[in-house]
Amino acid sequence: MNTEKLEKARKYEQEYGKLVLDSERPVYHVTGTTGWINDPNGFSEYKNEYHLFYQHYPYANEWGDMHWGHVKSKDFITWERLPVALAPDEGYDKDGCFSGSALELDSGEQLLIYTGVQEKIDDYGEKKRFQTQCIAIGDGRDYKKYDQNPVISQKDLPEGADPLEFRDPKIWFEEGFFYVATANKMKNGSVFLHRSKDLFHWEFCGILASSLGELGNMWECPDFFSLNGKQVLLISPVEMKPNGEDFHPGHGTICCFGEYDKENYSFQRENHHLIDYGIDFYAPQTMETSDGRRIMIGWMQAWSTSTFVPEGAKYFGQMTVPRELTVVNDKLYQNPVRELESYRQDKVAYFDVEISNKELTLDKIEGRVIDLTVELLDIKQFHQFVIQLACDKENKTLIMYDADRNKLCVDRSGSGFPHDIVHTREITIKPVKGKLKLRILLDRYSMEIFLNDGEKAATFTIYTPQTAAGIKFVSDGRAHVNIEKYSLNKN
Ligand code: FRU
Repeated sequence: MNTEKLEKARKYEQEYGKLVLDSERPVYHVTGTTGWINDPNGFSEYKNEYHLFYQHYPYANEWGDMHWGHVKSKDFITWERLPVALAPDEGYDKDGCFSGSALELDSGEQLLIYTGVQEKIDDYGEKKRFQTQCIAIGDGRDYKKYDQNPVISQKDLPEGADPLEFRDPKIWFEEGFFYVATANKMKNGSVFLHRSKDLFHWEFCGILASSLGELGNMWECPDFFSLNGKQVLLISPVEMKPNGEDFHPGHGTICCFGEYDKENYSFQRENHHLIDYGIDFYAPQTMETSDGRRIMIGWMQAWSTSTFVPEGAKYFGQMTVPRELTVVNDKLYQNPVRELESYRQDKVAYFDVEISNKELTLDKIEGRVIDLTVELLDIKQFHQFVIQLACDKENKTLIMYDADRNKLCVDRSGSGFPHDIVHTREITIKPVKGKLKLRILLDRYSMEIFLNDGEKAATFTIYTPQTAAGIKFVSDGRAHVNIEKYSLNKN
């Protein structure tokens, strides 16, 4: 049963989505059909296809009443657009269908669990936006909201919990129960755990973990799973104070490792690190594929930079490339999904090229939609090594390695932004056995860097004109590099 609000959003997308030319979209990153997108939602496998939903306001390039947009894929790279899945069209979610997750049920149906936002006026005449957890069940395209929604509300919360900041359910099935981890503002950010046998009746299990004032002031979008023998909690804390290289926009995403005491539903945080060291990355969500890989996708934006919408944009917001996760020495490693490799074309490779203080361009090393690997072979032969990407006379995106300080410095101030916002980042990274490896994915409006086979990742949006496709290298000494470049193409 589709309501007027849902039909309106679907019709709007059909009509206006056509006006966005393929050449105005990234080649292999997900965007909304029209309007605005933020967090990835419901990232999951259903009937042997990968589904991705997203926070979506179809009608403008700004955040508004949240709907769920929807795409699906067989390989994480080519996505088919589907009609809007959820609209804020019931009393309990009239002010937004906020983030959530999805699961394939034994019945063959697809379950969506999301946060319903409902504004109410309290006894003092003040507006309060209550957040509850709601479900909808469907066939991979159309969804019916449960008529007894919400399924988890204020009455299911522990004492001291905040019913106004209670959201982003992440669901999984384990040993006969459905479990849901949600974010709450209690104790400056907590993750609650609820469980259910039937999806409709939920019991509160415990508080998995809390910020206690150490990690921001509210946690968003929790994800909780075990990987390579480690228990992992991903969170997106709000109001983190900038700390050295971390948390420049006041929020960020963190990966925490620790011990999970299943009897008491408590997760003892032991150590944590930032997930992405770039500028545009937030609210990631993971899924497990049927071949056992843990894949993460993030919103390729940050709230603090999300108001800088390019002039004339017909849509706004992108997702990162889906990334395969592994845990190595208490670090979350990320690499682009292996499926991307089958889109590589026109290999160009150079071995042991010497780069000195004269800017060097190499035949066929150029392009804006590319998969480029640069291996710095002998770090001791220079102090600074620079790659200029997406460059022409007026534009350049700089990646500079400072070998004395083990710092990778990225500067996108020449990357098409007319605004003086944060454009630079410094990332500490050491060579491994004397070598530093950079894999750089460029798409029309972004750059994602993966260092040392996934040890660190850094994500940046760029809005450089597409004609700026040059690549140059320079060093202040005698750098030796291996370079491998592919075009990424869907044809
Ligand atoms: C994170 C977030 C979520 C919320 C959603 C609203 O970016 O604030 O906590 O569910 O966005 O769009």
